[in-house]
Amino acid sequence: MSRRLDDRSTRHDRFHQKAKKEGYLARAVYKLQEIDEKHRIFDGGHRVLDLGCSPGSWLQYAQETIGERAVLVGLDRGPLQKPPRGARIEVGDVMTIDVKQLLGELPAFDIVLSDMAPDTSGIRNLDQARSEALFERALEIAELTLAPGGNFVGKLFQGPDFKRLTEAVRAKFAAAKTMKPASSRQISIEQYVIGKGFRGARKDRTP
Ligand SMILES: C[S@@+](CC[C@H](N)C(=O)[O-])C[C@H]1O[C@@H](n2cnc3c(N)ncnc32)[C@H](O)[C@@H]1O
Repeated sequence: MSRRLDDRSTRHDRFHQKAKKEGYLARAVYKLQEIDEKHRIFDGGHRVLDLGCSPGSWLQYAQETIGERAVLVGLDRGPLQKPPRGARIEVGDVMTIDVKQLLGELPAFDIVLSDMAPDTSGIRNLDQARSEALFERALEIAELTLAPGGNFVGKLFQGPDFKRLTEAVRAKFAAAKTMKPASSRQISIEQYVIGKGFRGARKDRTP
């Protein structure tokens, strides 16, 4: 399906309409809601890093779910039109951003999220490879910034390295699961990989 057709079907689908009605910046909010309802990723945590955060619906959800204690940091390639109140937004490319800039004054995050997706070319292998690179970088940032016990959610297009990358999450977290939320469009090859209970940073790695 071409990008234009894809966008048009997204605009008219029921999750898009629901998000508009409920005041969310994107339909993607319902994916995070489903993941959280199943895997309780925000339980006990309040410091959140959201990679690829624009337009901001995951930050909205994190703020509502955590409440006043929420400390939210988002990264995207461009500024957000309506940054959720109280969130610190960093503008930059995940591949080159300095992890210390993401942390700022914080010692660590409790939850690292990544809903990053490449600009799709329509060439399946290329899009998968780009998605895998974004996912690997998100996992690396999680490893460098998460507090022990912290949680990770990362979007990953299903492709040849899917198993290797889910195993990489399993090695770093007490539990790893994959999920395709019902609100994720059927046509999409995206999956979400959830890591719960970060085992702690390797001694040879510092931000
Ligand atoms: C599906 S959207 C995220 C939607 C977001 N979760 C929300 O609920 O509003 C994916 C985002 O990833 C961002 N992204 C893709 N590649 C990136 C990169 N290399 N560095 C930073 N952000 C990136 C895109 O700019 C885009 O805004």
